[in-house]
Amino acid sequence: MGNSLRAAALLAFVVLSILVSLLISSVQQFGAQGVFNVTRGEEQLPEALISQLSERRREIVPLLLLNRDEDNFSDEPLDSTWDTTVWDKIARGASRASVDGMGCDSLVDMQALEVLGSGYTKLVVKANLVGGMAVALKLVNEQGIDMGKCLEEFDEPEACRELVAYKLKKEMVLLKRLQHPNVIGLRGHCESQRRAAGAEGGRLAVILEQGTPLQMIQLLQSPWEDRFKVCLDLVHLLHFLSRSPLGSVALLDFQPRQFVMVSGTLKLTDLDDISAELTHCRAGTDCTLLFPQRNFTVPCVRGVCEGLNQKRNMYNAYRYFFTYLLPHQAPPTLTHLVDHIMNSTGELKGDINETVQAFEELLAQYQSGAHLHNLPAAELTDYLLLRRVGGSGGEYRCWLSYSAQGCVLSVHSPREAAHICNSHSQCSSFSLTGQRTWSGRLLASFRSSSAQLGPDNTSDMYVKKTTVSVSPSL
Ligand SMILES: Nc1ncnc2c1ncn2[C@@H]1O[C@H](COP(=O)(O)OP(=O)(O)O)[C@@H](O)[C@H]1O
Ligand SMILES: [Mg+2]
Repeated sequence: MGNSLRAAALLAFVVLSILVSLLISSVQQFGAQGVFNVTRGEEQLPEALISQLSERRREIVPLLLLNRDEDNFSDEPLDSTWDTTVWDKIARGASRASVDGMGCDSLVDMQALEVLGSGYTKLVVKANLVGGMAVALKLVNEQGIDMGKCLEEFDEPEACRELVAYKLKKEMVLLKRLQHPNVIGLRGHCESQRRAAGAEGGRLAVILEQGTPLQMIQLLQSPWEDRFKVCLDLVHLLHFLSRSPLGSVALLDFQPRQFVMVSGTLKLTDLDDISAELTHCRAGTDCTLLFPQRNFTVPCVRGVCEGLNQKRNMYNAYRYFFTYLLPHQAPPTLTHLVDHIMNSTGELKGDINETVQAFEELLAQYQSGAHLHNLPAAELTDYLLLRRVGGSGGEYRCWLSYSAQGCVLSVHSPREAAHICNSHSQCSSFSLTGQRTWSGRLLASFRSSSAQLGPDNTSDMYVKKTTVSVSPSL
């Protein structure tokens, strides 16, 4: 209990310090909260605000009731006064979702807060918990558009925070419902009690696994293999969302900033704006998907637009991810498979199952190295193999390298590495250490003739037999 109070106080402190660190004047707001009577009942709030609060609560109900794998949420009737009951249910559901069910106690004495990102609704900070676990905390963004709009309209800081916090609560329910390797993991949550003695109430922190925000610019400069992985992860996510426990789910705010990377895996983190609703129709013309550049129509089958949510997600994946990440620098012999994917997703020709299949086929081809069979077989014989030999120095930079200092690329085999080395004018040797990428390909370090060779048990070195490594033009 003591710990919980400490954590609640800490949470208030966290929010405060983040605001200060963002150099935003929150002093007036907190001042305003000081005079806000925390015991004030909801009936004293403006009617429009009360109705917005009820609407937000109501939005969560279907998500609770749509729970197909367990019925604990639907065992009591819900009426208009169910606020606390519903939240209790959400809290119980959410903490059951997390393996370790972290609560306020886990946040006691946490360290090293740093802002990871923010959006219209939420602020996300990095926290290292006692015991060394790194997590992300999602809080209401006091400086966000949502909070700002509410304050401007109603000037009720505490009720506005509660209104915005419902989006966080909705997200928790969804994280619980939509557990998947490509959805951010929910670890638990901490909510300081409303009207707690002496403490400002209603603060909520959702505890999530920590990721790094997706940086499209950085990704554009990454090897094709890594960009392909992001697209592959996205396709797996969309496949899951098309048949999730909530039905077929559409991401309404589909943007790269709603995703993070966790140990090389793409994960969806912003779930408050999703819809599992079916679109009812009388004719195909009622089932139009409008995008800035393109419109599509899906069939109206038995009064429902068939596959509308799935197709919306797929075209968004195409326009925000595939067009930027997939074709650029794809292995030349695989471009026909890439082109097929671009064509079928960009024109919405196939469904998500076919898209998953096409991606799996591309992955299998890439992993098998079958696409390299027509490389000149003789190339490797140009090299002398020195086992247990490594190199130092002689680094040169190359496009899309895994290392910023030198030229490190993934290869299927020594033969592919020899082919690459032959195509670089500076290259006179390459080494393989057995280190592999996510798809199982080998990492090869390419070096120029100024490299020093030496014993290294972890590496095999291939040195060009002709020591002439400088092109005639130099
Ligand atoms: N688990 C996480 N790890 C790291 N960064 C995150 C995490 N979750 C969210 N973020 C970052 O915080 C930003 C805001 O979170 P988000 O849920 O998208 O809030 P909003 O609903 O306000 O857009 C995201 O754009 C992302 O960059
Ligand atoms: Mg967001």
